[in-house]
Amino acid sequence: MTYQVRSAEERRLAIQKNAARLGIDDNFISELVETFYARVRAHPRLGPIFNGEVDDWPEHLSKLKDFWASVAMNAGRYSGKPVPAHMKLDGIKREDFGLWLGLFHRTLEEIAPGEETVAYFMQRAERIAQSLQLAMFGLDSLEASG
Ligand code: HEM
Repeated sequence: MTYQVRSAEERRLAIQKNAARLGIDDNFISELVETFYARVRAHPRLGPIFNGEVDDWPEHLSKLKDFWASVAMNAGRYSGKPVPAHMKLDGIKREDFGLWLGLFHRTLEEIAPGEETVAYFMQRAERIAQSLQLAMFGLDSLEASG
């Protein structure tokens, strides 16, 4: 077996090249975040949770664009802490994550350039949603949701 030892810089470039192949760039991230959060705000269950918490939407959307650029393109622009930001929210239920992920998936199905790009974002969103649920609801929440 051969091991390929790659530097952090080489790994970063490989991620960026793959993201470009999938049609992911700053324009796409911007469209995704704008479209998705417009829908979140209009959602009967998720909308009130967000609208009750976020005062400055342009600032919030800009933060989320940096977040997704970092997650999807390794842009290194986001340095926040999603877990405490969600832990402090009252009234989120486990099922809300299913609503969030369903809406994110439908948005991607409509605007992503292809199925591989949809899957690329969904894998990352699901992984992050799992770690948020683990922090918020404990291990049982993951076992119960499969
Ligand atoms: C039930 C589902 C979710 C709800 C109701 C929710 C709600 C919120 C709210 C209200 C905020 C604003 C907090 C604040 O301004 O202090 C926030 C921030 C954020 N959310 Fe979520 N969220 C959900 C799921 C997710 C998922 C699955 C992801 C990632 C894949 C995510 C990523 C983020 C990020 C990156 C922030 C910014 C954190 C920071 O301040 O740096 N959220 N969320």
